[in-house]
Amino acid sequence: APMLIVGLAPGLHGANKTGRPFTGDASGDFLYQQLFDAGLATKPHARTADPDMHLINCRMTNAVRCVPPQNKPTGAEITTCNGYLRQEMAAMPHLRVVFALGRVAHEAVVKAIGGKQKDYPFAHGAAHKAADGLWLVDTYHCSRYNTNTGRLTEQMFSTALQTALNKAQG
Ligand code: URA
Repeated sequence: APMLIVGLAPGLHGANKTGRPFTGDASGDFLYQQLFDAGLATKPHARTADPDMHLINCRMTNAVRCVPPQNKPTGAEITTCNGYLRQEMAAMPHLRVVFALGRVAHEAVVKAIGGKQKDYPFAHGAAHKAADGLWLVDTYHCSRYNTNTGRLTEQMFSTALQTALNKAQG
């Protein structure tokens, strides 16, 4: 797949149970609808580990692998799990774009590519050219909090996703 979507961490009663990022999590309702609309998922929702649900031309992972305390990953967790993210990226020979959901995911990706955080400032909708021709595209995280407060709207997310898709195809 040319695109890797990177989230934050599994939710306690969702991805932590189902073993699939955003599956069974409130933020997954928003995300999978968007992925389905963009032709990147076979179904518009993922509440369970449904064998008929597949991602299309993309993979998905989280910056942190375990449910973090208070849903806020510690620096130590992010550092410990960064090797998994590096492995995930290295196992994708056709990777062209990483779509980072939120600042923590963005910073984990910058760390995984060995970049300096100051060279890649997080900003919703930004596309950063990473060292080896890889693109890093940012969006605000699609958490219930962000979508309920209007910090992240469907339109904002789909525009950022389209930026990432253009990089994946470009
Ligand atoms: N569930 C995930 O798997 N990742 C997130 O970032 C949020 C919910």
